[in-house]
Amino acid sequence: MSVPRVRTYVPGLDEILYGGIPERNIVLLSGGPGTGKSILAKQFLYNGLLKGESAIFVALEEHPVAVRRSFKHFGWDVSKYEKEGRFAIIDAFTGGIGASAQKEKYVVKQVDDVHELVDVLRQAIKEINASRISIDSVSTLYLTKPAMARHTIMSLKRVISGLGSTAFFVSQVSVGERGFGGPGVEHAVDGIIRLDLDEYEGKMYRSIIVWKMRDSKISMVRHPLEITDSGIIIQWDKYIKLSTFNVRIESLPSQEIEEMKKAVQEVKEYVKVARTEIEE
Ligand SMILES: Nc1ncnc2c1ncn2[C@@H]1O[C@H](COP(=O)(O)OP(=O)(O)OP(=O)(O)O)[C@@H](O)[C@H]1O
Ligand SMILES: [Mg+2]
Repeated sequence: MSVPRVRTYVPGLDEILYGGIPERNIVLLSGGPGTGKSILAKQFLYNGLLKGESAIFVALEEHPVAVRRSFKHFGWDVSKYEKEGRFAIIDAFTGGIGASAQKEKYVVKQVDDVHELVDVLRQAIKEINASRISIDSVSTLYLTKPAMARHTIMSLKRVISGLGSTAFFVSQVSVGERGFGGPGVEHAVDGIIRLDLDEYEGKMYRSIIVWKMRDSKISMVRHPLEITDSGIIIQWDKYIKLSTFNVRIESLPSQEIEEMKKAVQEVKEYVKVARTEIEE
């Protein structure tokens, strides 16, 4: 049976997810520094806004002012949607300190208090009826207390998924680290997408791989990815072979290309029904 899916509208991403992200899934967006996690997390939200949906960005790494500026860098002006009440930034960065922070509507005062964050998030989701959420990054929440990682992820997942929203949780890993953010986190989330940056003979190569996605078929190869002035573009019909000795980019078999195209086409026809709350 086909599940309702949220299309990301990120060029190439829906294809490698065979249509999009199953609704209510929490997806870990994992990768090393500079791999494009924050850009992808923002693009997912902005594309939803363009389609008439509502979205929330939880800022744990950057000042809300810097967040708005980095959306703008790609030509994504979120201020219009903030005024309309369809977009909100949750400031979990400043702790409410500073003149510009006082203008923010949603502020987490104790930035390391997950309960407060969950409360502010619940209120914001209900107020703006958000269907898309990005948290950048969840790693910040348990950096100093790894034992709390699973509990933190589950608390966030409960409120987001429970209210019918779909989310990207940015997870930071070190350069060369094979994992995605620790066992407690990796099993708690519904999906894992990994972004990579590899150097070969003095040249850098960007790529993306979908490691898991509950209730969905996934592409089983690594795809080349580009960051452009208008955001991320994934070469969904190509795969990249990186070894110690060479880098090769090859075409996917035509049967797979056709299957991915068809899957995206079918989701396009799915009409999003109103969100139904299951949270108690
Ligand atoms: N217009 C652009 N064209 C090409 N590349 C760009 C453009 N704008 C930003 N980038 C690249 O995107 C990279 C940053 O992406 P992003 O901020 O999403 O990384 P990240 O994975 O969130 O990293 P971190 O974990 O350090 O926060 C930068 O290294 C930059 O080179
Ligand atoms: Mg980032």
